[in-house]
Amino acid sequence: MVWSSLFWANLGLGLAGQKSIGLTPESLPRVPQGPERSSQPNIVFVLTDDQDLHLDSLNYLPSIRKHLLEQGTFYKRHFCTIALCCPSRVSLWTGKAAHNTNVTDVQPPYGGYPKFVSQGLNDDFLPIWLQDAGYNTYYTGKLFNTHTVTNYHLPYVNGFTGSDFLLDPFTYQYLNSSYQRNKDPPVHYEGKHTTEILTEKAYGFLTDAVQEKKPFFLAVAPVAPHSNVKFLVDGPDPDLQAEFSPPIPLQRHAHLFPDAKVPRTENFNPEEPSGVNWVKRLPRQSQENVDYNDHFYRERLRALQGVDELVEGLVDRLGRHGLLENTYIIYTSDNGYHIGQHRLQPGKECGFEENINIPLIIRGPGVPKNATTQVVTTHTDLAPTILKLIGAPLRASFDGEAIPTSHSEIAKAKMKRHEHVNVEYWGFALGEGKNWDGERLHLNNTYKALRIVGKSYNFFYSVWCNNEHELYDLNQDPGQLKNLLAKNTLVDRLLGHPLPKVAARLDSLLFVLKSCKSRTCIEPWRALHPAGNVRNLHDALSPRFDQFYEVQQKKVEYTRCEAGYILDAEGPQFEKDGLVYRYGSHWADWV
Ligand SMILES: *[C@@H]1O[C@H](CO)[C@@H](O)[C@H](O)[C@H]1NC(C)=O
Ligand SMILES: *[C@@H]1O[C@H](CO)[C@@H](O)[C@H](O)[C@H]1NC(C)=O
Ligand SMILES: *[C@@H]1O[C@H](CO)[C@@H](O)[C@H](O)[C@H]1NC(C)=O
Ligand SMILES: *[C@@H]1O[C@H](CO)[C@@H](O)[C@H](O)[C@H]1NC(C)=O
Repeated sequence: MVWSSLFWANLGLGLAGQKSIGLTPESLPRVPQGPERSSQPNIVFVLTDDQDLHLDSLNYLPSIRKHLLEQGTFYKRHFCTIALCCPSRVSLWTGKAAHNTNVTDVQPPYGGYPKFVSQGLNDDFLPIWLQDAGYNTYYTGKLFNTHTVTNYHLPYVNGFTGSDFLLDPFTYQYLNSSYQRNKDPPVHYEGKHTTEILTEKAYGFLTDAVQEKKPFFLAVAPVAPHSNVKFLVDGPDPDLQAEFSPPIPLQRHAHLFPDAKVPRTENFNPEEPSGVNWVKRLPRQSQENVDYNDHFYRERLRALQGVDELVEGLVDRLGRHGLLENTYIIYTSDNGYHIGQHRLQPGKECGFEENINIPLIIRGPGVPKNATTQVVTTHTDLAPTILKLIGAPLRASFDGEAIPTSHSEIAKAKMKRHEHVNVEYWGFALGEGKNWDGERLHLNNTYKALRIVGKSYNFFYSVWCNNEHELYDLNQDPGQLKNLLAKNTLVDRLLGHPLPKVAARLDSLLFVLKSCKSRTCIEPWRALHPAGNVRNLHDALSPRFDQFYEVQQKKVEYTRCEAGYILDAEGPQFEKDGLVYRYGSHWADWV
């Protein structure tokens, strides 16, 4: 294969002199075999940054296809619950929705590493639980935003046997990165490509891990294909003074895919505006803008090639150590990405499918090979999944539930698993790339949303902080161009019911989800129907609940737009306001 020979040739050059990284089988350290070594499975977790599913990035990654898609299961309906790096990563590593971590932004006061620490989460997240379960834990790459060259030791990140973190403000500088290993001071790598450095560190930790007799967890978090970000001044709000240019590929990939373009789906730079709020006001992109964004797209595909090679190298090493059959490899991204859909400049932070429906592939013992499943899963499910795979107890605080990973679990999930995704967002959205219309920053991008996918329905419903509403029927309108709740809609029936009846059910479901905790996040219909007689939207649509949903329930609403999770901006919350479902209320009895 062209890919792997290129890979080895370049590895030889790039990593010359790195003693711990053997290029030939003979130079690998001896691994304890048989009864000496634990039979508990290992976990290798690869977490990319801003990788899309809907712009076809997986079609350009041959090693990921060969080793992960063909040897594992692709979870086609996997979602992040908040489409922004740091909050999404905190949800992923804690198993909690952002409204329960209250890490909702990339920087203080609402987010970033300092907020993760002040919320007590540095003492209560996955690597710590894995160590408690007897695992060695390793991490290299980006952990969170605002984890910086000045605060990395205030305090150190807990829970890792070995760690080597990318640090701000250099995290997204492909050729000028800063990494910080264990308790050492940060090391700056000017001129060297971040993916090459990361690859070296990942292989090093894998070597360390296999020399120990314990089972291990290794997370590798490349920055690709995130934009290259350079901060222009040290201001209080760095996002506003930063340049978001296309990612920088490794030199050997810079020429690839010269003809690739953003898929021209129906929602690509559409003639009519779509969405609500600031999205609806976006101007149509000029040809020059579209051409630039296609270039941006190609640079993303090229930057991902380094990740593809990294996966090849990890699989190859696991194989040569005899560990491949006893290792789960999980591949995903923190959030998705859009380029040009709905006239949006490159970016994330929206609730559209391109932003929230993201790659998830799992391979490992018992996981069906070359398979695709439609069961609905989210990032809050991953921490429970990992604990379940290693046989450790799940935690009551989880807002998600383990993802089915075997034939029989997947078959059962098709009948029984929930069908909703709780999506939330606070703050602003940012157009990356060039600042075409002088309006890169979009404030009041605060909303709550819901995805629901059942046998006969496939909806997205949202309520924004200015109280605009959206409802898209993705079976009829996969590009989310026709908001059924817009004033001029021509549709008045859905699923054989008047539209307002369906919308009322979705609103109540969102009402529960927006402040749910633990089991309520997993079984929100139980909060509305404690008798357990309603398990999905179909059941809830029974006419005998018309009064309940259309008259008795409070509606999701905001009193104003806030950039963070400020309770009194978010409508009725407490029992004194009437029938509400905030945790701690009466319904908690059945938990
Ligand atoms: C790398 O970062 C350092 C520290 O900010 C800076 O002095 C240097 O100019 C940067 N180099 C490049 C190539 O951007
Ligand atoms: C995977 O499945 C596809 C069709 O679903 C098939 O064409 C391909 O040969 C399969 N690959 C492997 C390695 O089994
Ligand atoms: C954002 O929301 C605030 C408070 O709800 C409002 O005062 C302001 O006008 C809004 N700004 C924009 C740009 O929509
Ligand atoms: C979330 O954090 C912000 C910033 O510290 C704080 O103002 C807010 O009250 C918190 N929200 C909740 C619900 O605790």
